[in-house]
Parts: sequence; C-alpha cells; structure tokens
Amino acid sequence: MQVSKRVVELSDALDRERRAGRSIGLVPTMGALHDGHASLIERAAVECDVVAVTVFVNPLQFGSGEDYDAYPRDLDADLVTTERAGAGLVFAPSPEAMFPPERCTSVGVGALGEVLEGASRPGHLDGVATVVTKLFALAGHCRAYFGDKDYQQLMVVRRLVADLSFPVEVVACPTVRDVDGLALSSRNRYLGADERAAAPVLFRALRAGAASILAGELDPAEVRSLVAAIMEAEPLVDLDYAEVVEAATLEVPEKLHGELRLLVAARIGATRLVDNVGVRL
Ligand code: PAJ
Repeated sequence: MQVSKRVVELSDALDRERRAGRSIGLVPTMGALHDGHASLIERAAVECDVVAVTVFVNPLQFGSGEDYDAYPRDLDADLVTTERAGAGLVFAPSPEAMFPPERCTSVGVGALGEVLEGASRPGHLDGVATVVTKLFALAGHCRAYFGDKDYQQLMVVRRLVADLSFPVEVVACPTVRDVDGLALSSRNRYLGADERAAAPVLFRALRAGAASILAGELDPAEVRSLVAAIMEAEPLVDLDYAEVVEAATLEVPEKLHGELRLLVAARIGATRLVDNVGVRL
C-alpha cells in the first residue's frame, strides 16, 4: 500500500490509475479509524478498482476551545485498518502541506452550515467544505464515500458537488453501531466507563422519536420534546439539540410528512456526540 504525504503525490497517483483505466474510490477521514470507517473503505473496494483513504485532522473544522489538539492520532494503527479493508493508497498530509500559511481561499456553505451542527459549531461545516473541496480537486473523477452518521455533513458535501460541478459521485453509507446501539465514533474513546454506559441513550431516544412518528405523531415539537426528555432523563447527558427535519432540506416542517431525519447532539462529560436516524412516512 502506498502512503503519500504530499498533495501532488495524491493527484499524480490517482491520475496514473485513471489513465490505466481504473476507477477510483475516495474515503476522506480524520483517522483514528474504527469499523465505521472500515465499512466505507470495504464498500469502496467492492465498487471501485482503487481506493484512496485520506487521513487528515482538519484544523479548519475545529472551533477554538474544541478538541483539535487532543483529537486521537494513530497513523500506524490506521495503516493496518486501511490495508485490511482494501485500500491501495493512504494520503496523510501534514497541516502545512494541506494548508500552507499563505492560504486565503475558503468555501462557505451559507445557511446549510448555520443550522444544527452549524448553530452549535459556527464555521465547522465551512471548514469541512473547504477541506473536502481540496480533496475532490486533488482526486479528480471518482466515487466518494461518506457516512450517514454525519448526516448534515453528507448534505453539505452533496451540495458542494452540485454547486461546484465536481466530477464526483457521492455514495452514502449506513451508520455502523456497537451492539448496544451507540454509533461508532473516533470520539467514543474519550468516554469513561460510566459515560460509555450512558451514551446509547442517543440512539434509544432517536428510535423512540421515530416510533412515535410511525405511530401517528405528526407535530415536530412533540417529537422533539419526547426525544429531549429521554436524553435529559440520563444524568450524565447534557443535550445540545434534538430536532426532526425534512431529510432533503434540513428544514423543520409544520407537519411531518415524507422523508424525515431525526438528529441529536449531546455532551457526555467533555465528549460531544452526534447521531441521527431516518424515517419515511
Ligand atoms: P471522520 O469523523 O473521521 O469520518 C470519516 C467518514 O466516516 C465520514 O464520512 C463519517 O460520516 C464516516 N463515519 C464515521 N463514523 C461512522 C459510523 N459509525 N458508521 C459509518 N460511517 C461513519 O467526517 C469526517 O471525518 C471529516 O469531517 C471529513 C469528512 C474527513 C473532513 O475532514
């Protein structure tokens, strides 16, 4: 497996593969890889001839006071996971190689980046859009694999592909969970034992919200309160938001109908976790 640190190495390697007639799968990550990431890489390996995994903790998507410095970094372990999952190339640039000090261009996603995660983490989704734009520019024509786990991010990436005409097909992949329902996340390793025991409440609350909709509750405020009440009954959980939105627009409808998404974010101790589920009426 090839490991590249310089941006030209990624674009040159993928250009060579394309010229040889091979299709490219791109899996952007921030490393600290788990089975959720591995599921994206494995799917890409089934659907594409060559899989490139990017491992880069993107400083632009962390706010001040967030966990950029503490974010887990373990490239050696990540190389084992990527190779086992079927990647042919890993791109692991330094922050300076990706964003030299003279950089002055950013990508903004407007209102889509100001609700939900964007309301709690101002600038976060613009930071995601900027790094993903750069990765797409380097990768060229490819399929790019993203998790439903970060549903709003997936929407932002789809939007930027359409708006900026990248030759990229975005493939959405289902959320991989632990046996107790907790969505796998690189940040789960921050959780202490009692916090880990409390964390499945996110998925439990989402499931209860989805069940209430399917049982006929069509008022978004009622669903929101139900989900919030379940989360708030757990003493270690500090709820950030519980929301039910139209899946395609992330807007809150007056009355629930069609394709919906329930999303939650909460702090458990010092760790911020997100999760979401889809419901179709
Ligand atoms: P990261 O959190 O490392 O996630 C990389 C990809 O893995 C994302 O598409 C995410 O949705 C997906 N993923 C994470 N947990 C998952 C799970 N339990 N099941 C399935 N997929 C999962 O998301 C980012 O990095 C960054 O914002 C990035 C897109 C790389 C830009 O910096």
